Parts: sequence; C-alpha cells; structure tokens
Amino acid sequence: MAETRSATLTIDGKSYELPIHSPTAGPDVLDIRKLYAQANVFTYDPGFTSTAACDSTITFIDGDEGILTHRGYPIDQLAAESHFLEVCYLLLYGDLPSKEELDQFEGIITRHTMIHEQMHYFFRGFRRDSHPMATMVGVVGAMSAFYHDSTDVNDQKQREIASHRLIAKMPTIAAMAYKYSIGQPFMYPRNELDYASNFLHMCFAVPAEDYKVDPILSRAMDRIFTLHADHEQNASTSTVRLASSSGANPFACIAAGIACLWGPAHGGANQACLEMLREIGTVDRIPEYIERAKDRNDPFRLMGFGHRVYKNFDPRAKVMKASADEVLDLMGIQNNPTLQVAKELERIALEDDYFQDKKLYPNVDFYSGIILDAMGFPTSMFTPIFAVARTVGWISQWKEQLADPQLKIGRPRQLYLGDKLRDYVDISRR
Ligand code: CMC
Repeated sequence: MAETRSATLTIDGKSYELPIHSPTAGPDVLDIRKLYAQANVFTYDPGFTSTAACDSTITFIDGDEGILTHRGYPIDQLAAESHFLEVCYLLLYGDLPSKEELDQFEGIITRHTMIHEQMHYFFRGFRRDSHPMATMVGVVGAMSAFYHDSTDVNDQKQREIASHRLIAKMPTIAAMAYKYSIGQPFMYPRNELDYASNFLHMCFAVPAEDYKVDPILSRAMDRIFTLHADHEQNASTSTVRLASSSGANPFACIAAGIACLWGPAHGGANQACLEMLREIGTVDRIPEYIERAKDRNDPFRLMGFGHRVYKNFDPRAKVMKASADEVLDLMGIQNNPTLQVAKELERIALEDDYFQDKKLYPNVDFYSGIILDAMGFPTSMFTPIFAVARTVGWISQWKEQLADPQLKIGRPRQLYLGDKLRDYVDISRR
C-alpha cells in the first residue's frame, strides 16, 4: 500500500499525521492504526459505517452508483454470461479459469458432494420441526469433528481441501436439512448433474420416482447462487473473518457465518419478506403497511427494502427481477396474490417521498423470495439457499485473510460509559 498523502488530526493542540491510502476504486481510507499508540484515543464507529477492517481484492461495491463487481467483473455480466462454479473459481483464485482449469475445478467440487455417512445420524438428532438454518449451523460446525485432515489453517493444502469440501457439501447439507424437516428420505448427490440441478434434485426428488430438473429452474437457481456469491465485508463475512482471526478451524468459522446470516436484517430478510407479503395479503392493505414502515414509533420495516451500502438500486435486484418473470411465466403463476402485492408494494414505495428521501430501494431479497416460492421452496429454505451461495464468498475472504502477512486477531475497542471504580458491597448491606 503506497501512500503519498496524509491528513492532520489535532487534539488539544497536538497534531498527528494519518496516512491516506488510495484504493483501486472507492473512497480514500485514513490509516488510524497507530493513533492509539501515538495519541491515546480510540475512534468510535458502531456498526462500522465508516471503518475498513481489512484490505481486499475480491469484491467492490459502489453503493451510490449501484455497482457490484467480483475481481473487476460486473455482476450483471457474470449473471448473464457466466455460471456459479465459474464465479466460484473467479472469487477463489482471482481470475476467470481456462477450459482445463474449469473442468478440473468442476470435477473436484462434483466429487466432494457426498458427506460422511455417519453425519446422517447427526441430522437425526434434531427435532423434525427444526429450522433448516439451525440444523445447518450445527452440522457445518460438526464438520470439524468429521474432517480432521482439513482443519489445520496453517497448512495451505488443508485450507484448499477445506474450501472444496465446504463449497461442494453445503448444497447436500442444506438439502438434507430440508428433507429431514419434511420427513422425506435424504437424496444422495448425482455427479452427472451440474451444481444447481444437483441441488434441486436433492431437494425435490424422491426415491420412488424419476425427477427431471427443468433447465429454466436450474438456470434460475444457478443465477440465485451467482447473485449471492459474495458481497464484500457484510455482517456474516465479517463474522467469518473475526472468527478466523483467532485461528479457529474453517468449519467453525463458516458455521459462525451461517449463524450471523440467519438474522432478518441480513440473510433472513428473504424469508421475512415473503412472510410480510403474505401477511399484507391484498393490495388494498398496502397503504397501512407503508404508513407503519414510516412510523418512527413502530419497529416494523418493509422487508426487502433498504441496504447499508446501496443507496441506489441494488444491481442484484435488477437481475433477480428479470429472473422472477421468467420463472413465474414457466410456472404459470403471473397473477397470484403475493405477487400482486409485491408488484404494487414496489410501485408505491418507489414513488413515496419517505423511501425516496432515505434512498430505500428493493434489495436482492425482495425478488429472490418470490422466485424461490414459485419454485416450490418453503420460506424456511430461503436463508439456507443464501448460505449455500455465500459459502464461496466466506471461503474466498477467509483464504485471503489467512494469506495476509498483517493478520492480527480482531479485537475492537469500546467507549466505556459504565460505572467508575467502586468497592464491592456485602449482600447484607445492599
Ligand atoms: N423500511 C422502513 N424504513 C427503513 C427501512 C425499511 N426497510 N430500512 C431503513 N429504513 C429507515 C430507517 O428507519 C432509518 O430512518 P431514520 O434515519 O429516520 O432513523 C433510515 O432508513 C436508515 O436506516 P438504517 O437502519 O440506519 O440503515 P442501515 O444501513 O443500518 O440498515 C438494513 C440497512 C438493510 C439493515 C435496513 O435497510 C433494513 O432493516 N432493511 C430491511 C431488512 C432487509 O431487507 N435486509 C436485507 C438486506 S440485503 C441482503 C443482505 O445483504 O443480507
């Protein structure tokens, strides 16, 4: 990182020089690493709204322009012209693969899709009505109990094997969590199918009859995976990085990422969004919900709207919207009530001053839930599908972090507002 400029910070008449780093794209970054040692002050930034916690070469977002790129390639081009496993390669290794490299990578991922047979018993320990995300957090964390030969983070080869295992096995684990929750037998992966088709097969096939994956659904599934593959330093990715900074094994770190993703402000928003659309129910009730979303005293928010970084249309949402039309056409459900509510809600919110002023646009989760619902997934599977897709992003960021010679354990500081030093009082005198 070459810096040529600096900023001057003055505190109580004393000045400190803070180097300014210029990124490839995006705003300049003030380097405050030596600030505490030199000036005895911390910086205060709850929610990390102005803080870069690492440097990275993987994903770039310009929230004002609505731009998202992976290794420099725009997401709309990747969604239209590439496919998920090629994007996985790009994220993991930094460049688009040659034909041979892609064949080899696809072969490795395809041949790691089965999970240790003993893990089937682990699934059976969960209650049938467990949320599939709860099962996934447990099962992915438990992978470190089954794959001892890929838990040493200091061994480059083991890191590579763990990466492949996680990307390959995550669809199997998500599909098994689903099958278990509905009381159907687990379906083993099929090596002749591509990544998305294999996932659909494991979710929707049953041993009693043949199941043919529709290519339009498979393409839509692949696009959902592609659009969710990585998203810079979001909450779950930062969770993975923080967990990994202590040297924790990759399965534990990814389980932490899944746990964070589950929240309704993050990956859980797709489930929450569809549930909200169903709760609204009919177009005539939309104004009531818009008013609630605008009311400062009501905690209700329009799920699927707004984003910490995008203050313009979420570029993933644009692609997802087009994909939704394709899938709904195929399924012949252009006019179901949930869809009518979604379309009308989008129209009204986009014209409303409150949403315009606060730059609240539909995000990727607004449309993904509609597609997944049309495909036949229950809402409880929406976030697990997000987790399947985001695994490669978590892994790429994890690998990048471990290769960084500046790696330090993540340890934020605080602005302490609690009691000053005081003496313990015996219980008889309180
Ligand atoms: N409905 C109504 N008002 C909202 C909404 C919403 N969905 N989102 C933000 N606002 C308001 C908020 O009340 C605040 O108003 P004020 O300035 O008057 O206090 C203002 O807009 C800024 O909101 P914020 O909470 O400070 O913004 P944030 O960057 O911390 O939050 C967010 C971003 C995504 C958590 C938030 O927009 C939200 O809760 N959206 C709904 C959940 C959702 O759809 N999440 C999926 C995000 S995309 C997928 C992913 O990355 O996981």
